[in-house]
Amino acid sequence: MELEKRYKKYSQLLQKHNQQHLFTFYNQLDKNSQNKLLKQIEDLNFKSLNEKIGRYVKNVFPVELPAKIEPAGVYPAFPRSAEQKKKYEKAKQLGANLISKGKVAAFIVAGGQGTRLGFDGPKGDFPISPVKNKTLFQLFAEMIKAAGIKYGFKPKWYIMTSPLNFEQTRKILKDNNFYGLNAKDIFIFQQGAEVNLSTDGKILLAQKDTPAASPDGHGGSLKALYKSGAIADMRKAGIEYISYFQVDNPLINIFDPLFIGLHAMDKAEMSSKALTKAQPFEKVGNFCLVDGKVTVIEYSDLPKKLTIKKNADGSLVFSLGNTAIHIISRNFVERLNVKGFALPYHRAIKKIPYVNLQKSRIIKPRKENGIKLETFVFDALPLAKKSIILETIRSQEFAPVKNKSGTDSPKVARRMMIARAADWLREAGVKIPRKSDGSAGCKIEMAPSFAICKEDIAKKKNKIPQIKSGDKIYMK
Ligand code: UTP
Repeated sequence: MELEKRYKKYSQLLQKHNQQHLFTFYNQLDKNSQNKLLKQIEDLNFKSLNEKIGRYVKNVFPVELPAKIEPAGVYPAFPRSAEQKKKYEKAKQLGANLISKGKVAAFIVAGGQGTRLGFDGPKGDFPISPVKNKTLFQLFAEMIKAAGIKYGFKPKWYIMTSPLNFEQTRKILKDNNFYGLNAKDIFIFQQGAEVNLSTDGKILLAQKDTPAASPDGHGGSLKALYKSGAIADMRKAGIEYISYFQVDNPLINIFDPLFIGLHAMDKAEMSSKALTKAQPFEKVGNFCLVDGKVTVIEYSDLPKKLTIKKNADGSLVFSLGNTAIHIISRNFVERLNVKGFALPYHRAIKKIPYVNLQKSRIIKPRKENGIKLETFVFDALPLAKKSIILETIRSQEFAPVKNKSGTDSPKVARRMMIARAADWLREAGVKIPRKSDGSAGCKIEMAPSFAICKEDIAKKKNKIPQIKSGDKIYMK
């Protein structure tokens, strides 16, 4: 249909749905931009948009909590009985076997906007390693490569980006020669997006020809994996388990035989690693049990009474925090998509740049002005027939890079990377110089080619130099 006709058709539609302001600048645009704007409007599903506006923007219902919330069961980080020890040993063997048969794929969700870190570009390109300043993407690629060598298989890496950072991410990987991985073993795809709304339910304009939009949350991965063909690609390659991790965690253990083995042995569909919360109100989701299903309840939603509730030994009843590390069975993602499923949306009030209709220019608001709608991957946990949780130790596996400074900042993550390397070396009998506060008195970076877990160090003992206070050491 020619432009003029489409314009007329969509003017009426926008009017009907109270979004006619999207055409405020239409007559100022050249033909290309008019076409671009019309295409984006054609792609909008007004029925579902109006439902979302009604449910998440105009009427904000308080979070409905289930009547009965119990703590979720967990496999402890270290086995507590002889029987459990046996199970862990078996699980480790099974996990290692599945990895070496190529049944497990790495899957990173890297579609977020990383606004808190405020880094210009995809977060995966953020330099993080303490000595060589390697980026997050490089570290993950090296971990994947090292696992391939260790277990003797050809690892595949699935990378979810968003429509906003897909091209940039692809370019970064290409410009860096895929960090030594085979380009054909990397499958990069895009998640969906959601338009951004003003607090009265109007779609914001990011440009005169572009509605404001943001990625649809990490929960979007479960649809995007299927829609993009990644799941079909996995099926073809014989991959059964998806090792899900976030772009911000340089301490991730992507191919963990114990976690994979327990998930497979227990025939779970979606499993999680949990950490013990540092304090009751730590800002991580709480693993709970609701109607017999593992469910994550956000820190802001768990009633205070439960948040502070203690066991007889003084430990927290709801002690398990979400790390966003999961094993997901490929079958589960297939089943959800074939049957159809919907995750709930979460609304976030954010500062969203927009074109001011009267001033006709882009405003970068200082205060929150709009609403982003996102789905969260952990909301799929109750949909799983079975879900297990394995406890992990924070210092070993969880150093999220979220904020510019303070908690969860690059500085903390680098310190934790050094501390973990020092820890692994100390356990192998290496003497580590210490500062008066007990932290390592040197900078150590252990490349994944040197070790991806502490057990790998035993084989490398002859490559470990003497470490003196103030040294900067890179081990590869
Ligand atoms: P965060 O919750 O940290 O969100 O994402 P974010 O967008 O990256 O950062 P802020 O909140 O703007 O500072 C956790 C993980 O989920 C991915 C992120 O890339 C990160 O690995 N994610 C998040 C997506 O892949 N898509 C999304 O839509 C949101």
